[in-house]
Amino acid sequence: MDFFEAVSKRRSIRKYTEEDVSDSIIEKALDAAILAPNSSNTQTWDFYWVKSEDKKASLIQFCLSQSAARTAKHLIVITADPSNWKRSQKPLVNWVESVKAPKQVILYYQKLIPFTYRWGFLNSWALIKWFMFLLAGTVRPMTRGPNTRRDLQEVAIKSAALAAENFVLAISAQGYSTCMMEGFDEVRVKKLLKLNRSARVVMVISVGRESERGTWGPQFRLPKTDVVHIL
Ligand SMILES: Cc1cc2nc3c(=O)[nH]c(=O)nc-3n(C[C@H](O)[C@H](O)[C@H](O)COP(=O)(O)O)c2cc1C
Repeated sequence: MDFFEAVSKRRSIRKYTEEDVSDSIIEKALDAAILAPNSSNTQTWDFYWVKSEDKKASLIQFCLSQSAARTAKHLIVITADPSNWKRSQKPLVNWVESVKAPKQVILYYQKLIPFTYRWGFLNSWALIKWFMFLLAGTVRPMTRGPNTRRDLQEVAIKSAALAAENFVLAISAQGYSTCMMEGFDEVRVKKLLKLNRSARVVMVISVGRESERGTWGPQFRLPKTDVVHIL
């Protein structure tokens, strides 16, 4: 299946058949997910493939028992945690050194990443960063953050959402269906997965074979002219 076919065949499916989906389909989609572009390549995402029957039952409940979760063959939770920069910083420094990247890139990973990803107790660092960006921004174009923990979560969430899209398109390309869900109890899902306080649950994605009446009807979008603005 080519890329555009995978994109146009993908729909959010709320009801799946009893047919099994083999693990290799999910593995392949996870391989595609982790190839998604992500902020500074810090890979602050995690993917939880909830296979244990009792954990899956709890997760369905925490997804408010919606049928897209209830009838799914597999449930994958994608999370984002800015504090995961600590996991990737050393491998990234080693990598940029080994490929003989420009000095600024090496310094970026050695010095700037630890500075950028810090928010401090009660966001105390955020104020300092905000002020530094404000000062620098008066003389030249400047990024204005991320400063607070929430800002850094937002950065991590953007990257995780891109991974989620790669995942669902890879499932579509293999002939199966998905539903991205944000209708869940984040507090309970975080507890179930034993996540850090700074982590966010970005998406629960269900996978299965589309059943009859898996969608509410044909795909609906606003006209392109309403949303594409040519300046
Ligand atoms: C971030 C996000 C959260 C979503 N949450 C839910 C959800 O909790 N339950 C659900 O049935 N569909 C959910 N959807 C699916 C959307 O409703 C669906 O993408 C939209 O209606 C367009 O339909 P289509 O995906 O078939 O094109 C979600 C989609 C996204 C991107």
